Amino acid sequence: MSSIINDLEQTAFVTDEQELLSLERKYCSWGDTVHYLDPPKIFERAEGNYLYDRQGIPYLDLQMWYSAASFGYGNQRLNNALKNQIDKLPQLACQYLHPEKIELAATIARLNESKFGLEGRVHFNVGGAQAIEDSLKIVRNSTGKNLVFAFMGGYHGRTLGASAITSSYRYRRRYGHFSDRAHFVPFPYCFRCPYGKKREDCGLYCVDQFAKNFETEYNSFWDAKAAESEFSAFYVEPIQATGGYVIPPPEYFPALKKVLDERKILLVDDEIQMGFYRAGKFWAIENFGVEPDIIVFGKALTNGLNPLSGLWAREDLISPQVFPPGSTHSTFSANPLGTAVGLEAVRMMEEKNYEKITAQKGAYFLAQIRDLQRRYPKVIGDTDGLGMALRIEICQEDGYEPDRELTDRIFTEGIQGDLDARGRRMGLVLDIGGYYKNVFTLAPCFDMTEEEIDISVELLEQLIRRCAPDRI
Ligand SMILES: Cc1ncc(COP(=O)(O)O)c(C=O)c1O
Repeated sequence: MSSIINDLEQTAFVTDEQELLSLERKYCSWGDTVHYLDPPKIFERAEGNYLYDRQGIPYLDLQMWYSAASFGYGNQRLNNALKNQIDKLPQLACQYLHPEKIELAATIARLNESKFGLEGRVHFNVGGAQAIEDSLKIVRNSTGKNLVFAFMGGYHGRTLGASAITSSYRYRRRYGHFSDRAHFVPFPYCFRCPYGKKREDCGLYCVDQFAKNFETEYNSFWDAKAAESEFSAFYVEPIQATGGYVIPPPEYFPALKKVLDERKILLVDDEIQMGFYRAGKFWAIENFGVEPDIIVFGKALTNGLNPLSGLWAREDLISPQVFPPGSTHSTFSANPLGTAVGLEAVRMMEEKNYEKITAQKGAYFLAQIRDLQRRYPKVIGDTDGLGMALRIEICQEDGYEPDRELTDRIFTEGIQGDLDARGRRMGLVLDIGGYYKNVFTLAPCFDMTEEEIDISVELLEQLIRRCAPDRI
C-alpha cells in the first residue's frame, strides 16, 4: 500500500518530458485522438494566440482548440467571470436555479427571436455530442420518428447517437449495429463536386437530386397518400467543419430548405464549431438566410473554459407540454461556472462588433492564403473562407489530387517548434480536416493582429518550402 502511494507521489513530481510521455503511453487510454501525432505533444502554458511548450517555445495557434477558444487563451474578461463565479457560487446541483443560467438562456432565445422571428427555449448540457443527443430526443419526441438525414462529410460527435449521424463509418466500426444510422446526402463541396458538375452551370443539381427522393413512393422516402416522409429531420453544419471548412454556395441552403418545408422535415443546425462568429455571424446559418428549427451549440460559448453546450429549439418542439421535466438530464449541465462564462461571452459578443472584426481579419487572411496558393500552385489546390473560418487544401502537383502525406508532413513539421518567425523561434499549430485528410482548417483567434496574420502566412510558406522543396 505504502509503496503505491510513494510511487504516486513520485509521479506527481515528474518533470522530465520523456518520463511523462512514457507514463502516458502506459497509463492513459489511447482511445482519444492524442496518438494521431507520434510522439504526442505536451504544452504547458497558453496566452492569446500562443501555446507554449515546456521549453518556453511559443507556437502560433491557427486552430484555437477546434474553434473553442476563439476569443483567445486567457481572455481576461472571461477568466474574471469564471474567477468571480468561483468565489460566489462555484457549485450547484442542476436541479436548482441560479441567475446566470436563466439570463444566458433568455439572451440566446431573445437573440434568436430577433434573428429568425421565432420563439423558443434553451436547454443546456455538457459537451457538443451530448447536446446533439438531446436534439435527437427532441426530434424523436416531436415527430415520433427516428430516421434523419445528414451530410456526407458531416461530423456531430462521437457518442453513439452522434456517431449514427456522423458520416464516417470509421467511428461506428467495432461498435455494433447502428439501426438509426442517418441517410447521408452529398454536401455541396464544389471543388470536388460529388456529381462531377461545375458550380457555374450546375443549377444546384445536388438539391434536385435530393428533391427527387420524394417524387414517388418507390424512391423509399415519401408516402404520398399520407403526405409524410419517413425522415424527421436533416442535420446540417452550415459550413462543414471536420469535413474541411467546406463552404456551400449561397443559394444552396435556401433551395434545400424549400424541399424540407414541402416535406415537413425539420432543419437541425449544428453550430458547435461554426457558431459564435467563427463564420462571421453569431450563427453561421445566418450567412444563408434560412431559419433552423433547432440550433445546437457548444465550444466557443465559454471560450473553452467550461464544457458547456446546449440547444435552442422552436417553442412548439420544446415547450413544457411536449418536453416535460426530466426529459433529459446531466449532473453538470447548466453548471454555474459554465453559464457565468457563457453569459459574459455573449455579452462581450453583443458589445464588440465581431461581425466587422471577423469580416475584416478574415478577408485579410484569405487574401494572403490566396496569394500563397497563386505562388505555390503545385502544393495548394483550393483556398476559401467565410469570416475567420478558412481552408487550405493541399494537393499533388496537378493542383487537384489530394496529398495527404504532404499535409501530414507540414502539420508534423509545424509542431516541431523550430520555425523562424522574424528572428524568433516558433512553432505553428495546425489542424487537418477534409474528406481526404488534406485540408488545413484554420480557426485563428479573433484578436489576431494583421502582423500576426502576416507571420502565420510566412510560417506556412516556410513549411511548404521545407516539406515540398521539389514543388516550389
Ligand atoms: C460540428 C460539430 N458538431 C459536434 C461536435 C462534437 O462536439 P464535442 O467534441 O464537444 O462533443 C463537434 C466537435 O468537433 C463539431 O465540430
